[in-house]
Amino acid sequence: MTSIKISNASKVFQSWDGEAVVALEGISLDIEENEFISLVGPSGCGKSTLLRLLAGLIPPTGGSLEIAGEAVTEPRKETGIVFQQATLLPWKNLLDNVLFPLSVMGELKPQSEQTARDLLELAGLAGFEKKYPDELSGGMQQRTAICRALVHDPEILLMDEPFGALDALTREEMSLELLRIWTERPKTIVFVTHSITEAVLMSDRVVVMSPRPGRIMEIIDVPIGRPRTFEVEARNEFQQCAQRIRHLITGK
Ligand SMILES: Nc1ncnc2c1ncn2[C@@H]1O[C@H](COP(=O)(O)OP(=O)(O)O)[C@@H](O)[C@H]1O
Ligand SMILES: [Mg+2]
Repeated sequence: MTSIKISNASKVFQSWDGEAVVALEGISLDIEENEFISLVGPSGCGKSTLLRLLAGLIPPTGGSLEIAGEAVTEPRKETGIVFQQATLLPWKNLLDNVLFPLSVMGELKPQSEQTARDLLELAGLAGFEKKYPDELSGGMQQRTAICRALVHDPEILLMDEPFGALDALTREEMSLELLRIWTERPKTIVFVTHSITEAVLMSDRVVVMSPRPGRIMEIIDVPIGRPRTFEVEARNEFQQCAQRIRHLITGK
C-alpha cells in the first residue's frame, strides 16, 4: 500500500535579496507503507526542505504531496519528526519532554507515562527520567528527542540527520536501535543522512538527490534481507550499493 505519494513537487524560496532559490524541482516518489527510505545528497540539495514539505510545515510551490491519500496541508498527528538538533524544552525533565506531544494533542492517558518510560529505557535512558536536558550529553538529548517523536507511535517518522550530532559509536548504536524499534513497531520512515553506509544499512531504498535545484538522480534498491547488523557491510551487495551512491554524489 502506498503511504506517501509525492507528485512533481517543487519548492522555490525567495531569498532576502529577492532572488528565487529553486530548492526542489520535479520530485516524484511513492513510498510504501512501512518502508524505510533514506534521502542522501550534497549539502543544500533540498533534503530538509523535502522533509519539511512532508511534515506539512511549509507548502510546495508546485505539485502535490499526499499521505494516506490526503494532501498534506498542515502538520499531521500521524507524523513524528526528529530534527538534527534535539530541540528539547529546557525547563521540562526528560519524561515530560517525551510526553510533551501527547499533552499538546490533549492525549495524555494514564498509561502514557509508562509508554514514555519504556521508550526512554529502550533508548538507554532509564534512571534519567527526572533529569533536565542541560544535565545530559548531546547524544542523550537526541535520544530523548527520538523517544519524543515515537511516543504517540506515529505511522510516519521523518528524521532529518537525527544522528548528525552524535559521536561515531553512539551513532552506530542508535542506528541499530532505530532498526529494532522499526521492526517492533513498523512505520514508514523517511531518513535524511550524510552517511552513505548508514543509508544502505538502514534502508529498503536510498533516494540520491542532485545538487541544487534538488532532483531525484536515482533510487537504489538495497537487496539485503533483515534483520541487519553491521556484518552486512562486508557483503558484496552492500558494497555495490554504497559505491553506486558514492559515484552518483561525487562522480568518482
Ligand atoms: N527558508 C528558506 N529561505 C530561503 N532559502 C532557503 C530556505 N530554506 C532552505 N533554503 C535554501 O534551499 C536550498 C535547500 O536547502 P535544504 O533543504 O536545507 O538542503 P539540505 O537539507 O539538503 O542541506 C538551499 O539552497 C537553502 O539555502
Ligand atoms: Mg538539511
